Amino acid sequence: MDFIRIGFDFFADQEMFHGHFIAADVFEETSELDGLKGQMSIIFLGAFLHLFDWDKQLIIAKRVVSLLDPKKHNVVFGRMVGNVVGREYPNYSSHADYPEHTRYLHNPKTLQEMWDEVGNATGTKWVVQADLTHVNDGQEAVPSLINPAGSGMIDFTIERVVAEHDNT
Ligand SMILES: C[S@@+](CC[C@H](N)C(=O)[O-])C[C@H]1O[C@@H](n2cnc3c(N)ncnc32)[C@H](O)[C@@H]1O
Repeated sequence: MDFIRIGFDFFADQEMFHGHFIAADVFEETSELDGLKGQMSIIFLGAFLHLFDWDKQLIIAKRVVSLLDPKKHNVVFGRMVGNVVGREYPNYSSHADYPEHTRYLHNPKTLQEMWDEVGNATGTKWVVQADLTHVNDGQEAVPSLINPAGSGMIDFTIERVVAEHDNT
């Protein structure tokens, strides 16, 4: 909440800004996010999923699905650190805010696999389009010391597939 206030103070735009910020922990069972359940059509996940391991990413993805309005065209898009070899990697940036021991870095195939699992768990179907670019050779990580060799940026668009007769 402080950051929202600091942002408004810095840009002096509170009066002209018509968006609504919500600060919530995505893992909290009940939060202000609940007010958006079933209402969104597009969700942006920027540099977010890569902070967590597979299991936590699954929890987030299911939460994301719960916020989407199934009557609309649903798109989840974003970017994050990925890796040519999609798997769990040690979380070298682990600290109080990000205590995970591992973080799952995806390639396009593992990202589709994850969303197949999300689909099975939520009775939905998703198609992932993703590109892994700027892959490092182990010298220049992305560009950070915490990303292993083979890391790059993965840009993704994940669209809900709707059977024609469901598309109201
Ligand atoms: C690397 S920053 C990305 C910021 C921005 N989305 C972007 O694209 O540049 C990761 C963000 O995830 C947020 N975050 C980390 N854990 C979270 C959680 N459990 N619930 C909600 N947000 C979280 C952090 O506060 C931080 O703003």
